[in-house]
Amino acid sequence: MITDESIQLVKDTARVEDIVGDYVNLRRRGQNMLGLCPFHNEKTPSFNVNPSRNIYKCFGCGEGGDPIKFLMTLEQLTYPDAIRKIAAKYNIQLEEKEVSQEVKEERQEKESLILVNEFAQQWYADQLYNTDEGKSIGLSYFKSRGFRRDVMEKFGLGFAPNSRNGLYKAALASGYKEEQLDKLGLIRNKKDFFWDRVMFTIHNLSGKPIAFAGRILKKDVKAPKYVNSPESEIYHKSDVLYGLHQARGMVRKLDNVYMVEGYTDVISLHQHGIENVVATSGTSLTSGQARLVKRQTENVTLLYDGDKAGIKAALRGVDVLLIEGLNVRVVILPDGEDPDSYMQKVGTTAFEEYLTKKRRDFLFFKADLLLEEAGDDVAARSDAIRSSIATLALVEDPLKRAGYLQQFTGRLGLEESLLVNLVNQAVADRREEVKKEQDREQRRRERNARAENAPGLPPVRPQRPQRPNKKDIPPPPTEDRWAGMQEPGFAGAEPPPAGNDDYAPDWGGMDDGGWAGMQEPGFDDSGGIEIPPPFIDGQVPEMPGKDPLKEALLFTGHTFQEQDLVKILIVHGSKLHDEETNTSIAGFLTANTADILGDFDSEQYRKVAVLVADYVRQHQQGPAPEWYLNHPEENIRQMAVSATLSPHTMSPNWQEKYKVYLRQKHPTENHKLYAENFLRIFRMEKIDRKCKDNIRKIKEYEKGDDHKKLVLHMKLQMKLDEMRKALAAELGTVVLGK
Ligand code: GTP
Ligand code: MN
Repeated sequence: MITDESIQLVKDTARVEDIVGDYVNLRRRGQNMLGLCPFHNEKTPSFNVNPSRNIYKCFGCGEGGDPIKFLMTLEQLTYPDAIRKIAAKYNIQLEEKEVSQEVKEERQEKESLILVNEFAQQWYADQLYNTDEGKSIGLSYFKSRGFRRDVMEKFGLGFAPNSRNGLYKAALASGYKEEQLDKLGLIRNKKDFFWDRVMFTIHNLSGKPIAFAGRILKKDVKAPKYVNSPESEIYHKSDVLYGLHQARGMVRKLDNVYMVEGYTDVISLHQHGIENVVATSGTSLTSGQARLVKRQTENVTLLYDGDKAGIKAALRGVDVLLIEGLNVRVVILPDGEDPDSYMQKVGTTAFEEYLTKKRRDFLFFKADLLLEEAGDDVAARSDAIRSSIATLALVEDPLKRAGYLQQFTGRLGLEESLLVNLVNQAVADRREEVKKEQDREQRRRERNARAENAPGLPPVRPQRPQRPNKKDIPPPPTEDRWAGMQEPGFAGAEPPPAGNDDYAPDWGGMDDGGWAGMQEPGFDDSGGIEIPPPFIDGQVPEMPGKDPLKEALLFTGHTFQEQDLVKILIVHGSKLHDEETNTSIAGFLTANTADILGDFDSEQYRKVAVLVADYVRQHQQGPAPEWYLNHPEENIRQMAVSATLSPHTMSPNWQEKYKVYLRQKHPTENHKLYAENFLRIFRMEKIDRKCKDNIRKIKEYEKGDDHKKLVLHMKLQMKLDEMRKALAAELGTVVLGK
């Protein structure tokens, strides 16, 4: 071990401009020196060296520190190795102090284990390239997968032949000890552990072989596809990322790393020019791996298979990475593809295009996934949002968190303040959880200390067995992703049923009280007015749910506007719209919404519209408010109460969009004009949405070959465009965003 005095001497001697100057062309710029940053790609210099303070700092990528840090980061050296390197440069004689015998032995043991592995790697490679068995089975297999020789060598591929003791005998003959072969898991009971498999070498960060993985070639065999070296003194699999040694340079340069699942994925992408890629190797991503990667870059893109297991692994990985403070994006490959297969299929250009097009920030990846699964179910949607928010709360940096939140709010169409509260709550919950855990840890340590200080005294009372602290529990056996999927809450997510393509409303199940589950959140949009206590039949109307998120979700989409329509029906429906034809407001409104009833978001408001249309057909006039107030349906009575209490309607989303149009506050005497304006906007919104849906479908059909459907939807588009134009003309000056 280097003595403290020597370290101090090195520190005092090292000049930042010398050390950096060995790697970077520096030009003087006043007091400082300037050059191109070696840590990121740049064309104009932003890398500053400050000789007087003996530090460097890049204003492009933020990397900065003293001369030692520079070498550690750039050359991937350990602290002592950086000190040694500087000492050599300045001809400083380092004093080393005796390391304890124990440490020395441990170090020697590790080094010799690595030597054994180096031998094994050589042997496997020799089998692959130079034996008939290896060439005909192993090499031809790798070739069939399209692997190039140079890449195979770079990754230390090999072949373990069918003989059960080839490596064992060769190693003993070369003087390696059986005990060490055993420790490394290369042999078991004097027999080779790996046989009849192609071999992958697992390296540590500095490129030393620390473990192996063998892939079976036969299909339809019960044996596992891959077997791995067991944990050993030199191999802790939760702290290893496959391919990191080979990827390191590019990861730093591009300041981004792709994380994939498989060994072959890493090799294949590497060969196709994407070198900043590492694999978790079928284990679920661990915090050790996250920390490992963080020393190279803060930006991780999870690139996982497009199957359920891949999606599940990505969901889990996101949280682990966020906790370690990394920026996380996710790309899910098309179903059935893994990075290797997809790369082989489409080639580098299309592959990279796919990555840029499909990558999503972790939050949207998770939210979109869960929301799609939730479909229209409000409770499930609310759970999905809460779960996404719990993930967002893992982001420590408040600025970043706020940025994500803003985008998220925009996407969901919910009130920002509502989500801000939820996030803050989640952050607080998490802090508390972390704190509790720390406290528990602290108490445990104190207990242990007390126990140690009083070794002779028997415990006064028999001690209860201690519950293991979370941190003491050995990490969960790194889960095999092929061992079946058991993530709660991810039970066989089926894609939601395709949306109803028809214009015609679906009348099915109208009378079954199918909206029983729908909680009426109260009509009150003026704030503060409470729905009065029961007023009919002594029945207590159900109060709105207490969950603000669920309530808010009830009003996403067009629900609010549909509520407005119903309010106008209740308050003004019986009034006259047109004297000549003697039509009521209700008659006018229901006639002009009949064709878009199928596009209502809210089942209950649609139901009211249908009932009112029936009423108009039978009575040639609109129902008076009393009709609603005395309606046998509890729900409708409630609507009537709140509509009469707060008759003024103003859908929040419209206020901005149709400012000009809805400026006047719904004067009661102006009901005719108001109803007309309202209706135009209402229809416009529905048609707009229909247009967007239809355009999306057209794009899809253009890709496929269902020509008939394509034509059908194009015709529909023309019709919709006409309707849109006509309405836009009526709406006059109002600017309509499409
Ligand atoms: P190929 O089929 O050769 O392309 O490998 P792959 O990497 O595509 O395999 P897969 O997607 O099935 O698995 C991804 C990763 O999980 C592999 O690279 C292994 O690291 C790991 N893995 C897969 N199956 C097993 C297994 O049976 N045992 C162990 N220990 N690991 C496995
Ligand atoms: Mn594969």
